[in-house]
Formats: sequence, C-alpha cells, structure tokens
Amino acid sequence: MTSPIDLARQAAGFDKEQVARVQRLMRSWGLLADLALGDVLLLAPTVKDPETYVVLGNVRASTAPTLYTHDPVGDRHRSENRPLVDTAFRSGQLQTDVVTLGPHFPDGKADIVAAPFVCDGEVIGVVLRERRLSNRDLLKLEQTYLSLSDRLMQMIAEGSFPFPGKNDPQYGAPRVGDGLLVIDEERRIIFQSPNAMSALHRLGIHRNPNRSRVDELGLDDSFVRTAFAMKTSVVQEVDRRDVTVSTRCLPLLRHGEIDGGFILLRDVSELKRRDRLLVSKDATIREIHHRVKNNLQTISSLLRLQARRVQSEEGKFALAESVRRIAAIAIVHETLANDFSDDASGDDAPFEDVARPLIRLIEEGLQDPDSPIRFELQGEAGRLPLIRSMPLAVVLTELLQNVVDHAFPDHVRPEGGRVVTVAFESNDDELVVTVSDNGQGPPEDFDFADASGLGLTLVQTFVTTELNGTITMGKGNGPEGQTGTFTDLRFPKTWEDRVAGPAVD
Ligand SMILES: Nc1ncnc2c1ncn2[C@@H]1O[C@H](COP(=O)(O)OP(=O)(O)OP(=O)(O)O)[C@@H](O)[C@H]1O
Ligand SMILES: [Mg+2]
Repeated sequence: MTSPIDLARQAAGFDKEQVARVQRLMRSWGLLADLALGDVLLLAPTVKDPETYVVLGNVRASTAPTLYTHDPVGDRHRSENRPLVDTAFRSGQLQTDVVTLGPHFPDGKADIVAAPFVCDGEVIGVVLRERRLSNRDLLKLEQTYLSLSDRLMQMIAEGSFPFPGKNDPQYGAPRVGDGLLVIDEERRIIFQSPNAMSALHRLGIHRNPNRSRVDELGLDDSFVRTAFAMKTSVVQEVDRRDVTVSTRCLPLLRHGEIDGGFILLRDVSELKRRDRLLVSKDATIREIHHRVKNNLQTISSLLRLQARRVQSEEGKFALAESVRRIAAIAIVHETLANDFSDDASGDDAPFEDVARPLIRLIEEGLQDPDSPIRFELQGEAGRLPLIRSMPLAVVLTELLQNVVDHAFPDHVRPEGGRVVTVAFESNDDELVVTVSDNGQGPPEDFDFADASGLGLTLVQTFVTTELNGTITMGKGNGPEGQTGTFTDLRFPKTWEDRVAGPAVD
C-alpha cells in the first residue's frame, strides 16, 4: 500500500512544503474526526488528470462509527462524482451538503462538509468531513463537539488550522473524549463535559466552573493565555498533590482573530507514575547491586572479626578463604552497580570489568612481595548477565588462588618471572576462558575429575550446573607456551535459565 506521503508526492505532485503541510494536518486531525463524530479525508487532484481526486489520507473518529469499512487511502474519484469536493476546491469556499448514502447504508444519509485545504494562499486539496446522520437527537455533548468541528473546518478553509509552529500533540496529550472545556473569547468556561468535571474534581476543584476563568478555579492558566496570545495549540501539565492532569488549549480563530477556544483535559497521574517507574528501574537495579555488595562486605567483616578470635590456624585459613570468596561475589555486584555504559541494562556488564578487580583482589592477598606473580588479561569476554558472571567470577577466583597457592613453590622461578594468563575468546555462541601459569604444574597423579579440595569442587559445580559448560585441566600448554597448569573452560553464552540459585552442597 502506498503511504499518504508517497501519494502526496507522486499522485498529487506536492512539493516539500506542501507535503509538510499535509503531515501537519495529519498529526492534528484525529482531534478533528473525534469532534466531527465521523470520518475526515484529505483529497487532492492528481497530476495526471486534474478531474480525478485521489484520497491522500483519512482518519476515523474514536467517538462514532465510520462510514468506511475499507481503507479509502489511494481511492480515486472523478470530479463529477464528488461535486462538493470539486466545488470546494475550485471556489476556495467551505461547502456543505446532505447526501444519501450508497446501498451499504439503507436509508442512510450523511452530512458532509468540504473545506479547501490551503498552503501558502493556494488551494491544494480538500478536507472532507463525513458524518452519518442518526435518527436520534444529538446529546448536548455531541452538539458541542460538532460545533467545534464546524469551527475547525472553517479554520481549515481560512488556512489557520492546522496551527503553525511546533505544537504537535505530545505523548499522553489529551484527546476529545478525555474531558472538554469550551471557553469564550474572554477565556471564560461556557461548557464542561462530564469527564472534564471529573478531571477537575481530581485536582481538588469542586465548584461549578461555568463562567469562571481557569485561573479563577485556582489553576495556572498560562497555557490558555499563551495559546490565545500565540494563536496556537499549547499543552501543559497541571500538578496538584499527587495528581497530574495534562491540559491542551486550542484557540478558535475567525479571520485571524481569537473568538474562543477549547481545553482538553486528561488525568495522566497513572501514566506519569509508570513513566517514572520505568526511568527509575535501571537506577533501582543499580542501587540493589550496590546494597548487595555492601551487605557482602559486612559479612566479610564479620568473618574477619571471627577469624581473629579463632585459635587454630586451620580455622583462620578457612575463614580467610571464605572472606575471599565472598569478596569475589561482591565484585560482580559492584561492577553491575557501576556500569554506566550506553548499553547497560543494570543486569549485565563486560566481564573484563569484573575480571580486573578480581585479579587485584588476588594480588592483594599475595603473601610474599619478594616473589611477585604477573597477572595478564587477554581478549574480551563481552557482556555477561549476573547469572553467568557470578559463577564465572567464583570459578576464576578459585583458579587464580590455586595458582597463588600451588603453582610457585619457592624453588620454581621461571625465566622471565612468574606469570599467569587469563584469556577470553568469545564468539556468538560460546565463551572460552583459559587460565595458564608457568609454574610447576599439577601433581603427577592429578585427575581433575577426582579433585577433592573445596576450590576445585566449587569450580566443578559452578561450571557444570551454573554455566552449563565443560572444563579440562592439566599440564600446561598455554597461549604463550606455558608449561605449568592449563585450564580450559567453555560454556554457551545463552541457555535456558534455571530459576533455582547456585546448587552448592
Ligand atoms: N595452578 C596450579 N598449579 C599447581 N597445582 C594446582 C594448581 N591448581 C590446582 N592445583 C592442585 O590441585 C589441588 C586441588 O585444588 P583445590 O583448589 O581443589 O584445593 P586446594 O587449593 O588444595 O584447597 P582449597 O582451594 O579448598 O583451599 C591442589 O591442592 C593442587 O595440588
Ligand atoms: Mg584451591
């Protein structure tokens, strides 16, 4: 299907400015259709044949049923079949008529109004308003809608609607059904719809607004004064306690002079609240990570205090190990809390940003400053969500701690210094992490599957249950030919998340 803009350019031969005028009309004509209780169409003669009109666009009312069950955009009509459109176009004057509808609408009659659509003083098309006449009498509200729609059609013919300037309705801007106040040229309210009354009640205004000005109701009426002064539509939010009402004032012009206007009101408190929630969600997640980290640090402090009172070396050591493990988890939360990159979601972060402070943590725990170990980080792991980065952080901490604890007994002093390399290799599906040192290598009879220390048991458990991955460990063959211990860990980047937490027993 061709879009209204393509049709305007191609079929009607509109230039840039004329197309912009069409776009402006189409941004504000939902209001026109709602007030018209019917359909609104824009037609223009085709370049090929000026006796043929093409429908560039249409809008249906949300307040009444449509006459168009099909999409009329692109329909073509000979001028003799649409005499009202043709007359409006040629005369540049507003035309009205009552016509009998086709066979689809037995006994149906429609009230139609055709207004010349003007751009830069030149008639370039016709805005057509079509409303099926009903057998029942119109309600007072509907009569008011229609009379406002009449006024807007008149303004279209005079070229003063759509309004110039940037006054496109914003997201959440009120529509006709939301609440309507009609005001006279002195800005006094002369009509109020039931929904408008409800919106005023919610703002705490219970007096009858009739004949009052908006400011006399105790509300800031600068949007009305601006709309009248600038002769354009103005949207403003009115706040009272925890209620927010979005208001929109449209002036009515006759021959360029203000002779009244109307105000649409909508209670947007709920909308605003949800918006605020969305904006604060990221901040909230960050804050939670921050607090979790703080809590973990508190736990570490408690364990450290406990360790000081424990007599046995074994007990002290066990507590120190726990402190380190908890610190590793805290680092993951800290990284997530501090990740402000553009694609940050609050739940994932580049794993390098976790690995770097983890390495620092291990370095700080190095006992002997005379035999330093160089830690190297290679490649990029990419962003990992918390459910992956947390177990991976624990695993990496254990592997690095093992290097510190076991790889370099005093006599092992490799040429070029003691080095451990952590390398990441990431593709779309898989992340490969290798840890290799140039130390003494695992014991002769070492079998990873049989490892019984808590460290490697944790590694094993986290890799298989939390990361759904595989791990091999043995005598080295690291990326730089390291001869010590070499660990190769790989896991898929995405797999069905389990709901349960870490399964460590
Ligand atoms: N990088 C390494 N170099 C040499 N040996 C290693 C290395 N990593 C692990 N090992 C060997 O594997 C064994 C098991 O390690 P594991 O981490 O399970 O236990 P641990 O380090 O002895 O105790 P824990 O980690 O519970 O404090 C170690 O005792 C050590 O012999
Ligand atoms: Mg260990």
